[in-house]
Amino acid sequence: MNVLFVSSEVAGFAKTGGLGDVSAALPRALGARGHDVRVVMPMYARVEEKDHGFERVIREGDVELGGVRVVYSVFRATLPGSQVPVYFVRCPSLYGRPSIYGQDGDEHLRFAVLCWAALQICQRLRFSPDVVHANDWQTALLPILLKSGFAWDRMFDRTRTVLTIHNIGHQGSFDAGVLPQTGLGGSAHLVHGDQLREGRFNFLLTGILYANAITTVSPTYAREIQHDEQGVGLAAFLRERREVLFGILNGIDEGEWDPSTDRYLPATYSLADLAGKEACKHNLVTTAGLPYARHVPVFGVVSRLVWQKGFDLCQKVLPRVLAKTGIQLAVLGTGEPEHEQFFSALARRFPKQVAYRRAFSEEVAHLIEAGADVFLMPSRYEPCGLNQMYSLRYGTAPIVHKTGGLADTVSHFDPRTGRGNGFVFEHFDEGGLGWAIGQALAAWGSGRGKDRERWHALQKNGMTASFGWAERVTAYEQVYRLVAPGRG
Ligand code: ADP
Ligand code: GLC
Repeated sequence: MNVLFVSSEVAGFAKTGGLGDVSAALPRALGARGHDVRVVMPMYARVEEKDHGFERVIREGDVELGGVRVVYSVFRATLPGSQVPVYFVRCPSLYGRPSIYGQDGDEHLRFAVLCWAALQICQRLRFSPDVVHANDWQTALLPILLKSGFAWDRMFDRTRTVLTIHNIGHQGSFDAGVLPQTGLGGSAHLVHGDQLREGRFNFLLTGILYANAITTVSPTYAREIQHDEQGVGLAAFLRERREVLFGILNGIDEGEWDPSTDRYLPATYSLADLAGKEACKHNLVTTAGLPYARHVPVFGVVSRLVWQKGFDLCQKVLPRVLAKTGIQLAVLGTGEPEHEQFFSALARRFPKQVAYRRAFSEEVAHLIEAGADVFLMPSRYEPCGLNQMYSLRYGTAPIVHKTGGLADTVSHFDPRTGRGNGFVFEHFDEGGLGWAIGQALAAWGSGRGKDRERWHALQKNGMTASFGWAERVTAYEQVYRLVAPGRG
């Protein structure tokens, strides 16, 4: 099939979270299956700064939105580890900024332009997609554009659309006054009337209404977002479309995240020989300036430090646990000042137990996944989550809240049967998290002898599971075939 895949992040070029990982891994997997996949994303400043072997393919394109003419050019590079071309929309006034997302008041314009440019690129390259695959609110205008501004072009007659919701907490909801600047000013009748009457225009809702199929990134999250409490205002619309709403669990890049080949690690390891993991732990702890002891469990965190991720529970629970048990904690993450300050203060208060790196670092992320014994991910909600899967693969037992993709990938360890790969709490409160940490510490025991054997059984359950894209990609193919039958 011909697939146009549009995303605001693609790992290897620009990434703030899991959307970037998926937007690299899924097109790569589709490409490997023989589909003609083309990816489109913005040329952010950070992308342009590096030499990705760019080749200019369109000297000048333009789009007129609300009376303003936006001019752009298009460059092409190859998605690492594949033959898949990635097209970069270069428009320095919109994308040439230090961060990927911004608070400059023109996010609607930045991503409306991305959607327009993506379809214009198809026209210019004479690439007629069977499926246009949009991801999150930033690209959710693609379906409605095919029904409005691009409806005249026979090239798109057979084009169908899929929208993947990676996080319903971000919807791209703007004052309705932005409508002309999305290029939909003349198509206001197509936009959901209630929202316009309320003075709002919501990118994601528009995508939900117009996409031929909607997917989200785990089966549990697909159910959750149809409930009013978790649908963040869009549950009723999703219920209306439940016949074409599918939950497909994300995969992980098993080449990038493999402890037996990981290029970032001081020592590699596998289930058959975990000595390297102990070396990673030693390295993690000592380079962070903490004293090392084999029997002391090290907890790890790698995360955006935002409300979604549940670190407010940690604020209540961790100081007590650290004081009582002597565990160690290595944290990597940036985000809301409240959480950054909490972890900084925690490191000052427990200088032999806690290390906090306020940074975004691929390398340190790998070092923590490998060097920690336990991975802490108490998300309030989690559409899928990738880090718990990386942890399982690295023999690092995850502690998670039973929600979304965490519920679909982590099962609670029962020391009697030896089943389960981590620690799962149901009630999102202090008691829940405290209980799960207690369960993890009980399973760890003394960290020696028989207790260690029990821990190995737990590690094995995680390390032997498969989370690769090979199986997931066929689920996407089914959705593509459903919306665009007879193709591919
Ligand atoms: P989300 O997309 O909600 O942030 P996921 O678990 O799906 O959550 O994906 C997060 C991705 O971002 C993972 O690949 C994780 O390793 C990465 N990540 C998050 N914070 C950092 C950081 N500070 N440094 C490096 N990688 C990070
Ligand atoms: C979002 C979600 C996360 C998911 C990722 C990739 O950022 O928060 O749970 O894994 O998208 O789909």
